[in-house]
Amino acid sequence: MMVYIQAVAVMVLLGAGLVLLLLLAGRFLCNYGTCNVTINGREPLKVKGGGKLLDTLYDNQIFIPSACGGQGTCGYCKVRVLSGGGPLLPTELPYLTGDEQAKQTRLACQVKIRNDIELEVKPEYLNVKRFRAVLSSATLVTADIRELHFTLCDGGQLEFRAGQYVQVSVPAKGGSVFRAYSIASTPSHPEELELLVRRIPGGLGSGYMHKLQVGDEAEFTGPYGEFELTAGDTELVCIGGGVGMAPMRSLIRHLAEVEPERSCWLFFGARTEEQLLYQKEFEALRKRMPNLHVVYALSEPEKSPGWNGETGFIHLAAERHLQPGVKRQAFLCGPPQMLSSARDILLGKELDDKDIFADEF
Ligand SMILES: Cc1cc2nc3c(=O)[nH]c(=O)nc-3n(C[C@H](O)[C@H](O)[C@H](O)COP(=O)(O)OP(=O)(O)OC[C@H]3O[C@@H](n4cnc5c(N)ncnc54)[C@H](O)[C@@H]3O)c2cc1C
Ligand code: FES
Repeated sequence: MMVYIQAVAVMVLLGAGLVLLLLLAGRFLCNYGTCNVTINGREPLKVKGGGKLLDTLYDNQIFIPSACGGQGTCGYCKVRVLSGGGPLLPTELPYLTGDEQAKQTRLACQVKIRNDIELEVKPEYLNVKRFRAVLSSATLVTADIRELHFTLCDGGQLEFRAGQYVQVSVPAKGGSVFRAYSIASTPSHPEELELLVRRIPGGLGSGYMHKLQVGDEAEFTGPYGEFELTAGDTELVCIGGGVGMAPMRSLIRHLAEVEPERSCWLFFGARTEEQLLYQKEFEALRKRMPNLHVVYALSEPEKSPGWNGETGFIHLAAERHLQPGVKRQAFLCGPPQMLSSARDILLGKELDDKDIFADEF
């Protein structure tokens, strides 16, 4: 038995020694020199090799979405690496479909720059900008959700589509990390930025956003996101809960400004009445938007004795109210399970998958 334990200990020590040696070799011996990074066939960037593609692009003012801050857990940082990216890593596989793999799609946070590299990124990423903003006011709208209003510094303007998001740079040990927050304000006020942030116990980004004081400066990049409300007579359907309200509020307030007659549904689910958001605001909007329908539903109504509105899960409320056969675009914002149930209901109401946009958070 003793011999066995000694053998295991020796193996563990040898393994640890080997890992240390490899790390030291990587640190001191691997010098990748200057590498060319060619993006969408443009003039190559000359960069110092050895860094992560995502970070190197960021340092060169190319901002790729990265909701998890480069930890390889969100799958947002997809780019096509046409050459020089090295083999696909096991950490990337869960986030890439077979089709994406065939098209050389990679997670930028997992690719290391070891040589010249050729990329294709979505053209809109090249329009993402970094900006600073000052917190001008902040209010708690529920026990754990804070509404924050920022004014962009130096006359900056953020051109965005309703429903898009920004990434806030959060100070952290050894640098900054990034967290995504949806824009709740409307594109008609590009000099402002309104966000809704739920405090997650122990959360780095949400903790930072809840601690910011009026007058403090924060740094953002944006805009990001696929949400795109098309003009026309298509009915708009928003389904969500919690801070998922942020992009839905932007979309509906934008509609109130540009197409107040357009038909629009808001389905908002919460456990209890205290978690409902902006009931009075939407009530007021309904006076200007004759075809706005607002449905709030509580999943734990027994905890809100005065509640006489709808009850149950919000996707079931959508199932009850939406008639099939209407041309629609849907925007789903909330926890993953709510989104997947809502998507199934919408597909059952004959919505095309391409007309369903979803942001999970
Ligand atoms: C496109 C997009 C838009 C988003 N928009 C918003 C928004 O408008 N408002 C907003 O508040 N958030 C939004 N989020 C979520 C936000 O980006 C952060 O993930 C969130 O604030 C948690 O980050 P954190 O740094 O506070 O927590 P972390 O420091 O990353 O995590 C701390 C701990 O909390 C856990 N945790 C992380 N997130 C959650 C969660 N949602 N619920 C429970 N536990 C969690 C982690 O597993 C970890 O254990 C959005 C995310 C995406 C992808
Ligand atoms: S940044 Fe999240 S997976 Fe790459």
